Amino acid sequence: MGFSIISAAEAASYIKHGYNIGLSGFTPAGSPKAVTPEIAKIAEAEHAAGRPFQIGIFTGASTGDATDGVLTRAKAIRYRAPYTTNGDFRKSVNNGEIAYNDIHLSQMAQEIRYGFLGKVDVAIIEACDVTPDGKIYLTAAGGISPTIARLADKIIIELNAAHRGNQCIGMHDVYEPLDPPYRREIPIYKPSDRIGTPYLQVDPQKIIGIVEVNIPDEARGFTAPDPITDKIGQNVADFLLADMKRGIIPSTFLPLQSGVGNIANAVLGALGSNKDVPAFEMYTEVLQEAVVDLIRAGRVKFGSTCSLSVTNDCLQGIYDDFDFFKDKLLLRPSEISNNPEIIRRLGVISMNTAIEADIYGNVNSTHITGTKMMNGIGGSGDFTRNAYISIFSCPSVAKEGKISAIVPMVSHHDHTEHDVNVIITEQGIADLRGKSPAERAQAIIENCAHPDYKNILWDYVKMSSKGQTPHCVSAALGMHDTLLKKGDMRLIDWADYNK
Ligand code: COA
Repeated sequence: MGFSIISAAEAASYIKHGYNIGLSGFTPAGSPKAVTPEIAKIAEAEHAAGRPFQIGIFTGASTGDATDGVLTRAKAIRYRAPYTTNGDFRKSVNNGEIAYNDIHLSQMAQEIRYGFLGKVDVAIIEACDVTPDGKIYLTAAGGISPTIARLADKIIIELNAAHRGNQCIGMHDVYEPLDPPYRREIPIYKPSDRIGTPYLQVDPQKIIGIVEVNIPDEARGFTAPDPITDKIGQNVADFLLADMKRGIIPSTFLPLQSGVGNIANAVLGALGSNKDVPAFEMYTEVLQEAVVDLIRAGRVKFGSTCSLSVTNDCLQGIYDDFDFFKDKLLLRPSEISNNPEIIRRLGVISMNTAIEADIYGNVNSTHITGTKMMNGIGGSGDFTRNAYISIFSCPSVAKEGKISAIVPMVSHHDHTEHDVNVIITEQGIADLRGKSPAERAQAIIENCAHPDYKNILWDYVKMSSKGQTPHCVSAALGMHDTLLKKGDMRLIDWADYNK
């Protein structure tokens, strides 16, 4: 191979206090797993010796505990962008210990290229193969690898045998657009179009060494579906089918994007099992296990994604059947999987999850009661803003009914009323397309709010001032305030706020 084989500890020793490191992967899939824990050990040793050690981390999306978890616990992260899902990281961010920049995933690579985020000192890239002339074959995710590998001063390769060496070569389509004013159209006209190369080309001189590992991705399992997620899934499937029957969605169907999680799983399960929905394609950022099953069953014809966020068993099954999957699955860098131009051209139908939505259709996907970061916006904004139809779903209540997901005004704004087409809960469907704010409020309260909260929300509307978007400014966050003070939004007394 021509490169030095080095230990994870030696590789980590090249990372210095104040560096920015760029990591491969998107979700735990394809993220480094061996070098980052060694960086955490260096940070702990430096801190014990009274010296500072903190770094900036640039990723495609979330990573595994081997990165965000261990580095957070070692207090080694100064700055981090974009999305993460790690519980320890969440606590540190909400304690003000880490500078977290929650940007749209499609923008991450270009913001690094534009110089908004500073220099990339070292890129750590998980690979299944690497050639002496610097061709790197990525593993289960595209992420921001093309950009960080090109811009970094130095590259460390984690060669992970869990991805079966060159057996899965051909799964990636690596493409990096030019920056303005030279950028051209990105020539993807259907989810299966290939426009790049199956490998990442780097200057081999930049490769410090190869760390050989055999560690599976830290796959996330799902909790079993429950009646609420099943009902939401059914409602989404019914909505899409009705739109197809009345010709709004072409009879050939349109590509779908779906978030991760139990609700997304239930939605895909309901769509896949409904034989009135034709076999469809996905143009998405994360592809989860339900889709792999649907590909096997012929219900999903093609999956274009940034990452395979599946359990290790499922991933190994894909590798075992690679001849079957190689023309049905494609992995792309995140700025291509989430690219606004392509999403709008293909007419992607987006399906994401809300933390809360307000009666006018604004959506909060990121902040609990307006201040505490949950995970981040991820790709939800990339898809929602540019979708053919943008759908948000969530249970109508959280925490045993103490919290309504439908509120007068969202406590943090991620997706505006101008971008959100449909809100779906287990209670029903609010189709907001073509509606004025007053008509939207009617549809959302009547169709989506939990029965415990309908009158509370109507009382709010009645006390609101007239206007294009009626509100009572002193009461707009009254339900959140009641939750913080009394622990249950149902205990709201509007008289306390209608001043
Ligand atoms: N107030 C307080 N807590 C709330 C809440 C609210 N309005 N709504 C949900 N929660 C809590 C739930 O109770 C649950 O808590 P728990 O972990 O203690 O059980 C937690 O938030 C997660 O909610 P859940 O209903 O299980 O849904 P989820 O796991 O699908 O997560 C999001 C929902 C919104 C947090 C998640 O989808 C997300 O981070 N989205 C933004 C990124 C995105 O959309 N990416 C695009 C595609 S991958």
